[in-house]
Amino acid sequence: MESGMKKGIEMADQNEKELVFLDRNENNYGPAPKCYEVLKNIDFRRLSWYSRFYEKNTKGELSLRLAKEYNLPEKSIVMGYGGEDLLKSLIHCYLKKGETLLIPSFSWWYYKSIASEVGGNTAEYPLYVGEESYHYDIEGTIKVYRELKPRIVFISSPNNPTGNSLTPEQLYQILDEMKDAIVVLDEAYAMFKTTDKDYVKKIVEKYPNTAIIRTFSKYYALAGVRIGFALIGKELDRFELLASKYLGYDRINEQIAIAALDSTPYYEKITAQMNQDKKMFYDEFCKLPGFKPYLSDANFMLVDMEKSKMAAMDEFLKKKGFVIKFLNEKVLNSQVRITIGTHEQNTQLINAIKEFAAG
Ligand SMILES: Cc1ncc(COP(=O)(O)O)c(C=O)c1O
Repeated sequence: MESGMKKGIEMADQNEKELVFLDRNENNYGPAPKCYEVLKNIDFRRLSWYSRFYEKNTKGELSLRLAKEYNLPEKSIVMGYGGEDLLKSLIHCYLKKGETLLIPSFSWWYYKSIASEVGGNTAEYPLYVGEESYHYDIEGTIKVYRELKPRIVFISSPNNPTGNSLTPEQLYQILDEMKDAIVVLDEAYAMFKTTDKDYVKKIVEKYPNTAIIRTFSKYYALAGVRIGFALIGKELDRFELLASKYLGYDRINEQIAIAALDSTPYYEKITAQMNQDKKMFYDEFCKLPGFKPYLSDANFMLVDMEKSKMAAMDEFLKKKGFVIKFLNEKVLNSQVRITIGTHEQNTQLINAIKEFAAG
């Protein structure tokens, strides 16, 4: 290996050890103990042999398990290399050059990037800032949809980076209207709000043009294993064919994900703590002059702050070992997005921020 590359890898490893990353909405508690057990007890055949699930005319053990969890046929489940991969594949499958992808006005930068890969246009529908949180503007969204007649609509709930989400009723209202488009509901953070799965089944069955994207990266603390899945309506069968793998998926990661699904009490416990700490952040930021937090349904929180202080705060926190996300986008450039970490990290971080604000 070239010495420059080796040095780069060593530095990245060192950074991971020394810094606390609260900038990419990863789950710092780590996965459930059962996931580590899988790795400890791995059978060599999982490393060396393809799965033989295709002989049974099914995709794999994880998609079968997810079908059971969501009470849907396995055909409705599409596995991917994280939500990222599924969003990209959907765009590459259905959006043609010159067609429009409709996205929220404040959203994950990646949406625009994948539309431009196929020569597609992006247009935005409105979100507005309320007293305590951001909100989707349902009527405004429907108006833009009617005007632009997009091929695909992305809805993100909870939305990154604003943290707000839609109620099932609002979702039905939007989906009833958007029957002529493909609607992709990005639910990467949904489990932090509710673990209810019944509404997912209802949506997939009622709206055949809809795909719901979920991931093991956030709630299950498995971002490194790269597993996402889509729950799709009947009209999206071309996407199902495109994404299906004859020789199966990563057999180790599938087993790790199943171990996570078998660990409900662990995830409920860490999520309860994160929600408590999210409230702590909200209350503390409300008391700090120059900061304005927004309520969030996800494992992160958006906070307004003075733009002129962002660089200094970034430097101050990095010296204390914390990396958080300072937004530098066209519309959101005076905000910081904080991932909720472990209880200890959250306590240390808010103390460091208070120290910065006092200095
Ligand atoms: C809104 C949103 N959707 C999807 C993803 C993709 O996550 P993954 O590819 O790890 O499943 C992310 C990652 O940060 C995200 O913020």
